[in-house]
Amino acid sequence: MENEVQKKRILSGIQPSGDLTLGSYLGAIKNWAALADEYDCYYMLADMHTITVRQVPAELRRHTLTQVAAYIASGLDPEKNVLFVQSHVPAHAQLGWVLDCYTMFGELSRMTQFKDKSAKNADNINAGLFTYPALMAADILLYQADLVPVGGDQKQHVEICRDIATRFNGIYGDTFKLPDPYIPQVGARVMSLTSPEKKMSKSDKDPNGCVYMLEKPEDILRKFKRAITDSDTERCVRFDRENKPGVSNLMQIYAVATGKSFETIEQEFAGHGYGDFKQAVGESVVELLRPIREETERLLADKSYLESVYRAGAEKAAYVANRTLNKVYKKVGFLPR
Ligand code: TYM
Repeated sequence: MENEVQKKRILSGIQPSGDLTLGSYLGAIKNWAALADEYDCYYMLADMHTITVRQVPAELRRHTLTQVAAYIASGLDPEKNVLFVQSHVPAHAQLGWVLDCYTMFGELSRMTQFKDKSAKNADNINAGLFTYPALMAADILLYQADLVPVGGDQKQHVEICRDIATRFNGIYGDTFKLPDPYIPQVGARVMSLTSPEKKMSKSDKDPNGCVYMLEKPEDILRKFKRAITDSDTERCVRFDRENKPGVSNLMQIYAVATGKSFETIEQEFAGHGYGDFKQAVGESVVELLRPIREETERLLADKSYLESVYRAGAEKAAYVANRTLNKVYKKVGFLPR
């Protein structure tokens, strides 16, 4: 109906560049499932972004399919959420190019992720790595998204997306909706278990710093057992990011996994050693992830179902994306075919 109140729209995505981590789960996916009733949700597998860093082709395909299964297993019902693979919707590349031409060299040079990734991949600082934020802006703007649920590390990319949209709208009149980042209060920045000053990341060279969503319980428990706590003399469980980064990171993980407040956690472990605390955090993560792992494994055995999900998703996504792309092509003056 014309005058029915339109649901607000959400778009987000994760790169299938490796196995999903506890960071991507707590910072992003976990929050997505709860939004399905209230919002019109589009969740992408950002495969085009992954090739800014070299991928092994067969691994990329495997990670992409596994990630489709993991999205569903994490509670994203494909009937209620549009789940799709970025490269299946050509409008992303098409709008990405247009937005490249409305994104400034200076603003791209300031992106923290570009600086980090070019330091880590010094032998492959390619143009795609540099213009990555313009493609990400296309991902968001194609869907006229109101909200972009991401972890704290992606905030800068949502901000540049707003700047690009504002610039384009200023030249051609209202074309794009300006999106807002939607960042969780707790879980926005899950840190490495071995170097708590660094973000937990699938590209981390130290496998003990990162917990994967589909990892076996015994491996998860072992990693938490070995997690770095803090070297301060006050050996107690207390939230203090600055002076107790290791303990605070574990508290954050435990809080999101159990729903307990920091205060409750401090009371629970008053008078206990760090060993008990780490064991409890590990167990809570195992229980949080167990049903997701089991369901992902079950879904992976049914490839034709997964295919039907991402095919239907691409069709729905392309319909919305092409409407925006056509509007943009007209505005910039491309001759209609
Ligand atoms: P990516 O694939 O690096 O991460 C996926 C999502 O997980 C969040 N995240 C974390 N949150 C908390 N703690 C961590 N340690 C942690 N690690 C990852 C990220 O903030 C992100 O929300 N550029 C994006 C993918 C992308 C995208 C988009 C996102 C492409 N197009 C459009 C939103 C909208 C990226 O590299 O995320």
